[in-house]
Amino acid sequence: MKHLLNPLDFTVEETNRLLDLASDIEKHPDRYAHLCDGKKIATLFYEPSTRTRLSFEAAMMNLGGKALGFSDAANSSASKGETVEDTIRVVSCYADICAMRHPKEGAPYVASLFSRIPIINAGDGGHQHPTQTLADLLTIRSLQGRLDNFTIGFCGDLKFGRTVHSLINALTRYSNIKFILISPPELKVPDYVRDDVLQGFEYEEVTSLEEAMPKLDVLYMTRVQRERFFNEEEYIRMKDSYILDAEKMALAKDNTLVLHPLPRVNEIAPEVDNDPRASYFKQVQYAVYVRMALILTLLDLAPELN
Ligand code: NCD
Repeated sequence: MKHLLNPLDFTVEETNRLLDLASDIEKHPDRYAHLCDGKKIATLFYEPSTRTRLSFEAAMMNLGGKALGFSDAANSSASKGETVEDTIRVVSCYADICAMRHPKEGAPYVASLFSRIPIINAGDGGHQHPTQTLADLLTIRSLQGRLDNFTIGFCGDLKFGRTVHSLINALTRYSNIKFILISPPELKVPDYVRDDVLQGFEYEEVTSLEEAMPKLDVLYMTRVQRERFFNEEEYIRMKDSYILDAEKMALAKDNTLVLHPLPRVNEIAPEVDNDPRASYFKQVQYAVYVRMALILTLLDLAPELN
Protein backbone atom coordinates (compact mmCIF):
# COMPACT_ATOMS: atom_id res chain seq x y z
CA MET A 1 0.00 0.00 0.00
CA LYS A 2 1.32 3.44 -0.93
CA HIS A 3 0.96 6.68 1.05
CA LEU A 4 1.94 10.24 0.14
CA LEU A 5 3.70 11.81 3.13
CA ASN A 6 6.57 13.65 1.49
CA PRO A 7 6.89 15.03 -2.05
CA LEU A 8 9.79 12.64 -2.66
CA ASP A 9 7.69 9.52 -1.94
CA PHE A 10 7.00 9.38 -5.67
CA THR A 11 9.90 9.05 -8.11
CA VAL A 12 10.24 11.71 -10.82
CA GLU A 13 8.73 9.21 -13.29
CA GLU A 14 5.78 8.52 -10.98
CA THR A 15 5.31 12.25 -10.40
CA ASN A 16 5.36 12.98 -14.13
CA ARG A 17 2.88 10.15 -14.77
CA LEU A 18 0.59 11.62 -12.12
CA LEU A 19 0.82 15.08 -13.75
CA ASP A 20 0.05 13.51 -17.15
CA LEU A 21 -3.00 11.87 -15.62
CA ALA A 22 -4.10 15.19 -14.11
CA SER A 23 -3.77 16.88 -17.52
CA ASP A 24 -5.85 14.13 -19.11
CA ILE A 25 -8.50 14.61 -16.42
CA GLU A 26 -8.55 18.32 -17.25
CA LYS A 27 -9.18 17.51 -20.93
CA HIS A 28 -11.66 14.66 -20.49
CA PRO A 29 -13.37 14.94 -17.08
CA ASP A 30 -16.30 12.78 -18.24
CA ARG A 31 -14.05 9.75 -18.69
CA TYR A 32 -13.21 9.88 -15.00
CA ALA A 33 -16.64 10.63 -13.55
CA HIS A 34 -17.35 7.11 -12.27
CA LEU A 35 -13.96 5.55 -11.58
CA CYS A 36 -14.47 5.92 -7.81
CA ASP A 37 -18.16 4.97 -7.62
CA GLY A 38 -18.74 3.48 -4.18
CA LYS A 39 -15.43 4.77 -2.75
CA LYS A 40 -15.05 7.14 0.19
CA ILE A 41 -12.38 9.60 1.26
CA ALA A 42 -12.01 10.58 4.92
CA THR A 43 -10.71 14.12 5.43
CA LEU A 44 -9.30 14.41 8.97
CA PHE A 45 -8.39 18.06 9.49
CA TYR A 46 -6.96 18.94 12.90
CA GLU A 47 -6.05 22.41 11.57
CA PRO A 48 -8.01 25.06 9.62
CA SER A 49 -8.34 24.74 5.85
CA THR A 50 -10.62 25.87 3.06
CA ARG A 51 -8.98 24.81 -0.19
CA THR A 52 -7.18 21.64 0.71
CA ARG A 53 -10.07 19.91 2.44
CA LEU A 54 -12.74 21.04 0.01
CA SER A 55 -10.59 20.22 -2.99
CA PHE A 56 -9.98 16.67 -1.73
CA GLU A 57 -13.71 16.25 -1.22
CA ALA A 58 -14.53 17.81 -4.62
CA ALA A 59 -11.88 15.61 -6.25
CA MET A 60 -13.45 12.43 -4.82
CA MET A 61 -16.95 13.58 -5.77
CA ASN A 62 -15.80 14.38 -9.32
CA LEU A 63 -14.69 10.74 -9.51
CA GLY A 64 -18.10 9.48 -8.38
CA GLY A 65 -17.11 8.86 -4.74
CA LYS A 66 -18.17 10.35 -1.43
CA ALA A 67 -16.46 12.21 1.40
CA LEU A 68 -16.71 12.17 5.19
CA GLY A 69 -14.62 13.62 7.97
CA PHE A 70 -14.09 16.50 10.35
CA SER A 71 -12.74 20.00 9.84
CA ASP A 72 -11.86 20.86 13.40
CA ALA A 73 -10.06 18.77 16.02
CA ALA A 74 -12.46 20.20 18.64
CA ASN A 75 -15.32 18.30 16.95
CA SER A 76 -13.43 15.01 16.93
CA SER A 77 -12.49 12.55 19.66
CA ALA A 78 -9.02 14.13 19.68
CA SER A 79 -10.64 16.59 22.10
CA LYS A 80 -11.33 13.62 24.43
CA GLY A 81 -7.71 12.54 24.21
CA GLU A 82 -7.87 9.94 21.42
CA THR A 83 -4.52 9.33 19.72
CA VAL A 84 -3.93 9.62 15.97
CA GLU A 85 -3.12 5.86 16.02
CA ASP A 86 -6.55 4.94 17.34
CA THR A 87 -8.40 7.45 15.16
CA ILE A 88 -6.87 6.04 11.99
CA ARG A 89 -7.54 2.44 13.03
CA VAL A 90 -11.19 3.42 13.33
CA VAL A 91 -11.32 5.49 10.14
CA SER A 92 -9.76 2.57 8.22
CA CYS A 93 -13.11 0.79 8.81
CA TYR A 94 -15.13 3.63 7.26
CA ALA A 95 -13.19 4.90 4.25
CA ASP A 96 -10.95 3.75 1.39
CA ILE A 97 -8.41 6.57 1.57
CA CYS A 98 -7.62 9.38 4.01
CA ALA A 99 -6.27 12.93 3.76
CA MET A 100 -4.93 14.23 7.08
CA ARG A 101 -3.84 17.71 8.15
CA HIS A 102 -2.27 18.09 11.58
CA PRO A 103 -0.39 20.81 13.49
CA LYS A 104 2.26 18.29 14.58
CA GLU A 105 5.07 17.47 12.18
CA GLY A 106 5.02 13.76 11.39
CA ALA A 107 1.42 13.04 12.52
CA PRO A 108 0.36 11.71 9.06
CA TYR A 109 3.46 9.48 9.11
CA VAL A 110 2.42 8.06 12.48
CA ALA A 111 -1.07 7.48 11.07
CA SER A 112 0.40 5.60 8.11
CA LEU A 113 2.02 3.09 10.47
CA PHE A 114 -1.36 2.05 11.87
CA SER A 115 -3.57 2.51 8.82
CA ARG A 116 -5.17 -0.07 6.55
CA ILE A 117 -5.89 2.61 3.92
CA PRO A 118 -3.59 5.03 2.00
CA ILE A 119 -2.75 8.20 3.95
CA ILE A 120 -2.18 11.52 2.24
CA ASN A 121 -0.34 14.23 4.15
CA ALA A 122 -2.49 17.34 3.66
CA GLY A 123 -0.03 19.50 5.63
CA ASP A 124 1.85 18.65 8.85
CA GLY A 125 2.83 21.67 10.95
CA GLY A 126 5.63 23.71 9.38
CA HIS A 127 7.02 20.60 7.70
CA GLN A 128 5.59 19.42 4.36
CA HIS A 129 2.54 19.82 2.12
CA PRO A 130 3.10 17.41 -0.78
CA THR A 131 -0.27 17.77 -2.50
CA GLN A 132 0.10 21.54 -2.72
CA THR A 133 3.44 20.80 -4.37
CA LEU A 134 1.79 18.52 -6.93
CA ALA A 135 -0.67 21.34 -7.67
CA ASP A 136 2.22 23.81 -8.00
CA LEU A 137 4.12 21.49 -10.36
CA LEU A 138 1.05 20.95 -12.52
CA THR A 139 0.40 24.70 -12.66
CA ILE A 140 3.98 25.51 -13.67
CA ARG A 141 4.10 22.70 -16.22
CA SER A 142 0.71 23.60 -17.73
CA LEU A 143 1.24 27.36 -17.92
CA GLN A 144 4.94 27.49 -18.61
CA GLY A 145 5.24 24.28 -20.62
CA ARG A 146 8.18 22.82 -18.69
CA LEU A 147 9.53 21.84 -15.29
CA ASP A 148 13.17 22.61 -15.95
CA ASN A 149 15.38 25.56 -16.91
CA PHE A 150 13.83 28.37 -14.92
CA THR A 151 14.46 30.71 -12.03
CA ILE A 152 11.96 30.63 -9.17
CA GLY A 153 11.72 33.15 -6.36
CA PHE A 154 10.16 32.14 -3.05
CA CYS A 155 9.05 35.19 -1.10
CA GLY A 156 7.71 35.68 2.43
CA ASP A 157 7.73 33.21 5.31
CA LEU A 158 10.28 30.65 4.16
CA LYS A 159 10.87 29.46 7.72
CA PHE A 160 7.42 28.15 8.60
CA GLY A 161 5.93 27.84 5.09
CA ARG A 162 5.52 24.10 4.51
CA THR A 163 4.45 24.66 0.89
CA VAL A 164 7.85 26.28 0.29
CA HIS A 165 9.78 23.39 1.86
CA SER A 166 7.90 20.81 -0.19
CA LEU A 167 8.17 22.64 -3.51
CA ILE A 168 11.91 23.27 -3.10
CA ASN A 169 12.34 19.58 -2.32
CA ALA A 170 10.44 18.53 -5.42
CA LEU A 171 12.12 21.01 -7.79
CA THR A 172 15.65 19.86 -6.93
CA ARG A 173 14.89 16.79 -9.03
CA TYR A 174 14.40 18.76 -12.26
CA SER A 175 17.32 20.23 -14.18
CA ASN A 176 18.72 23.72 -14.16
CA ILE A 177 16.40 25.35 -11.63
CA LYS A 178 17.75 28.44 -9.87
CA PHE A 179 16.30 29.35 -6.49
CA ILE A 180 16.09 32.90 -5.17
CA LEU A 181 14.97 32.89 -1.54
CA ILE A 182 13.49 36.28 -0.62
CA SER A 183 12.71 36.83 3.06
CA PRO A 184 13.54 38.92 6.11
CA PRO A 185 16.54 37.42 7.98
CA GLU A 186 14.17 36.13 10.69
CA LEU A 187 12.11 34.08 8.20
CA LYS A 188 14.83 32.37 6.15
CA VAL A 189 14.45 28.70 5.20
CA PRO A 190 15.28 26.22 8.00
CA ASP A 191 18.90 25.04 8.17
CA TYR A 192 18.07 21.58 6.82
CA VAL A 193 16.67 23.11 3.63
CA ARG A 194 19.75 25.28 3.08
CA ASP A 195 22.41 22.79 4.20
CA ASP A 196 20.88 19.59 2.95
CA VAL A 197 18.07 19.94 0.38
CA LEU A 198 19.69 22.85 -1.52
CA GLN A 199 23.29 21.60 -1.32
CA GLY A 200 24.80 21.49 -4.79
CA PHE A 201 22.03 23.61 -6.33
CA GLU A 202 22.18 27.22 -7.43
CA TYR A 203 20.48 29.38 -4.83
CA GLU A 204 20.79 32.80 -3.22
CA GLU A 205 19.20 34.26 -0.09
CA VAL A 206 18.20 37.92 -0.47
CA THR A 207 15.94 40.45 1.24
CA SER A 208 14.86 42.65 -1.71
CA LEU A 209 11.89 41.55 -3.79
CA GLU A 210 12.38 44.49 -6.17
CA GLU A 211 15.92 43.43 -7.03
CA ALA A 212 14.88 39.82 -7.61
CA MET A 213 11.81 40.60 -9.73
CA PRO A 214 13.47 40.99 -13.18
CA LYS A 215 15.24 37.61 -12.86
CA LEU A 216 12.19 35.50 -12.07
CA ASP A 217 10.26 33.11 -14.31
CA VAL A 218 8.10 32.06 -11.36
CA LEU A 219 7.36 34.06 -8.21
CA TYR A 220 5.96 31.98 -5.33
CA MET A 221 4.47 34.39 -2.76
CA THR A 222 3.55 33.16 0.72
CA ARG A 223 1.67 34.33 3.77
CA VAL A 224 3.48 34.96 7.06
CA GLN A 225 2.35 31.92 9.07
CA ARG A 226 0.84 33.60 12.13
CA GLU A 227 -0.17 30.34 13.83
CA ARG A 228 3.46 29.15 14.01
CA PHE A 229 4.84 32.24 15.77
CA PHE A 230 5.65 32.05 19.46
CA ASN A 231 4.77 35.67 20.00
CA GLU A 232 2.22 37.96 18.44
CA GLU A 233 4.45 41.05 18.47
CA GLU A 234 7.00 39.29 16.34
CA TYR A 235 4.23 38.32 13.88
CA ILE A 236 2.99 41.92 13.68
CA ARG A 237 6.53 43.12 12.99
CA MET A 238 6.93 40.59 10.16
CA LYS A 239 3.49 40.37 8.62
CA ASP A 240 3.78 43.08 5.98
CA SER A 241 7.41 42.44 5.04
CA TYR A 242 6.48 42.08 1.38
CA ILE A 243 3.49 43.35 -0.53
CA LEU A 244 3.35 42.56 -4.23
CA ASP A 245 1.64 45.40 -6.10
CA ALA A 246 1.37 46.74 -9.65
CA GLU A 247 4.52 48.79 -9.22
CA LYS A 248 6.59 45.70 -8.40
CA MET A 249 4.88 43.69 -11.15
CA ALA A 250 6.17 46.30 -13.61
CA LEU A 251 9.69 45.08 -12.80
CA ALA A 252 8.93 41.46 -13.80
CA LYS A 253 9.24 39.68 -17.14
CA ASP A 254 6.22 39.59 -19.44
CA ASN A 255 5.65 35.90 -18.77
CA THR A 256 6.53 35.56 -15.08
CA LEU A 257 4.03 33.31 -13.31
CA VAL A 258 2.85 34.59 -9.96
CA LEU A 259 1.79 31.73 -7.69
CA HIS A 260 0.52 31.65 -4.10
CA PRO A 261 -0.82 28.58 -2.25
CA LEU A 262 -3.46 30.85 -0.63
CA PRO A 263 -4.95 32.04 1.65
CA ARG A 264 -3.43 35.46 1.07
CA VAL A 265 -3.60 38.09 3.74
CA ASN A 266 -1.85 41.29 2.65
CA GLU A 267 1.06 40.05 0.58
CA ILE A 268 -0.56 40.41 -2.85
CA ALA A 269 -2.53 43.59 -3.47
CA PRO A 270 -5.92 42.91 -5.14
CA GLU A 271 -4.84 45.15 -8.06
CA VAL A 272 -2.50 42.33 -9.14
CA ASP A 273 -5.40 39.89 -9.63
CA ASN A 274 -6.24 41.21 -13.10
CA ASP A 275 -2.66 40.97 -14.31
CA PRO A 276 -2.48 38.04 -16.79
CA ARG A 277 0.63 36.81 -14.96
CA ALA A 278 -1.31 36.31 -11.72
CA SER A 279 -1.95 32.55 -11.70
CA TYR A 280 -2.95 31.80 -8.11
CA PHE A 281 -6.61 31.18 -8.82
CA LYS A 282 -5.75 28.89 -11.74
CA GLN A 283 -3.54 27.01 -9.26
CA VAL A 284 -6.68 26.24 -7.22
CA GLN A 285 -8.31 24.58 -10.24
CA TYR A 286 -5.19 22.56 -11.09
CA ALA A 287 -5.12 21.34 -7.49
CA VAL A 288 -8.46 19.57 -7.99
CA TYR A 289 -7.22 17.74 -11.11
CA VAL A 290 -4.01 16.69 -9.39
CA ARG A 291 -5.85 15.43 -6.30
CA MET A 292 -8.18 13.42 -8.57
CA ALA A 293 -5.09 11.90 -10.20
CA LEU A 294 -3.57 11.19 -6.79
CA ILE A 295 -6.69 9.48 -5.43
CA LEU A 296 -6.86 7.26 -8.54
CA THR A 297 -3.17 6.43 -8.29
CA LEU A 298 -3.19 5.52 -4.59
CA LEU A 299 -6.35 3.44 -4.99
CA ASP A 300 -4.78 1.64 -7.95
CA LEU A 301 -7.62 2.77 -10.22
CA ALA A 302 -5.61 4.95 -12.61
CA PRO A 303 -6.22 3.99 -16.25
CA GLU A 304 -3.30 3.56 -18.66
CA LEU A 305 -2.82 6.69 -20.78
CA ASN A 306 -2.14 6.21 -24.50
C1 NCD B 1 -1.16 26.52 2.74
C2 NCD B 1 -0.96 25.65 3.96
O1 NCD B 1 -1.92 25.22 4.58
O2 NCD B 1 0.20 25.39 4.25
N1 NCD B 1 -2.49 26.57 2.34
C3 NCD B 1 -2.93 25.61 1.45
O3 NCD B 1 -3.06 24.46 1.78
N2 NCD B 1 -3.17 25.98 0.19
C4 NCD B 1 -0.54 27.86 2.84
C5 NCD B 1 -0.89 28.72 4.00
O4 NCD B 1 -1.70 28.37 4.87
O5 NCD B 1 -0.34 29.82 4.04
